[in-house]
Amino acid sequence: MPAKIRTAVIPAAGLGTRFLPTTKAVPKELMPLLDQPLIQYGAEEAVEAGVERVVIVTSPGKEALERYFSLDLELEQRLTDSGDADRASQINKVASLAEFSYVIQEEPRGLGHAVLTAKDAVGQEPFMVILPDDVIWPAGDAAPRMTEVYSRFDSAVVAVEEVPLEAVSAYGVIDPEVMEDRVCRVRGLVEKPDPNEAPSRLAIVGRYILPPEIFDCLERTPPGAKGEIQLTDGMALLLEDQAMYAYQFHGTRYDGGTPLGLLKASLDIGLKRPDTRDRVREIIDGLTGP
Ligand code: G1P
Repeated sequence: MPAKIRTAVIPAAGLGTRFLPTTKAVPKELMPLLDQPLIQYGAEEAVEAGVERVVIVTSPGKEALERYFSLDLELEQRLTDSGDADRASQINKVASLAEFSYVIQEEPRGLGHAVLTAKDAVGQEPFMVILPDDVIWPAGDAAPRMTEVYSRFDSAVVAVEEVPLEAVSAYGVIDPEVMEDRVCRVRGLVEKPDPNEAPSRLAIVGRYILPPEIFDCLERTPPGAKGEIQLTDGMALLLEDQAMYAYQFHGTRYDGGTPLGLLKASLDIGLKRPDTRDRVREIIDGLTGP
């Protein structure tokens, strides 16, 4: 029986350049997507996949992330006192989603380095990585399904989606050997390839299930694309010793990492959610363009 995936690592140490100037003061991961911060979607998806511990990789100055996932009993009391029992019961729910811990990535040395920073917090067991910029809706289509693929093959699993050829250079891309509907065996993977050299149009989306051996690989991974230690390059080393699978999820992936991507995610998810659908439709229909 493959070991249960108990832990998720959520890298959240980035500078959030694309959200400047807001990110001078507020971590990008706390930008709201409808009624909750971006990072909460990732954390909830991990919990839906069975995760009990969430390790958040942050950087100096992003203490607000820790505050967000902590209990605020004073605020709860104030809301209760003012008769807002609904909100009082809601605000601390996030703190009990999972057991949260934090590790600090002192320097922005890349995604692979961020994951490596979580080595001691994860320990010697397989774990999940969730990139909070990639929002998948419905969440049940991604990480929870990936844990099923992991259980069948007892190997690393990465989420992929087909993108236009001209877009491949923004992603890690896999060389797939199709096995069955939505599941491929990974023969190779390359970070941010030139479209002419890309092994396929199957781009890695920010969901990974990785064995603990990835940490040794990341320790041996030299800087790659953008001069950073890339998780994709570490996985390419892992692939020399172990099998790896890719899961092409159903559902829609949104790029919450840019202001307009987040706007699109808010509108589209707003249109999908039964509790917001009618109001969002009214807003869109009421807009007057030039
Ligand atoms: C990262 C990964 C890349 C992956 C992408 C998914 O890139 O390095 O392999 O395809 O996330 O969002 P980034 O978006 O940080 O450049």
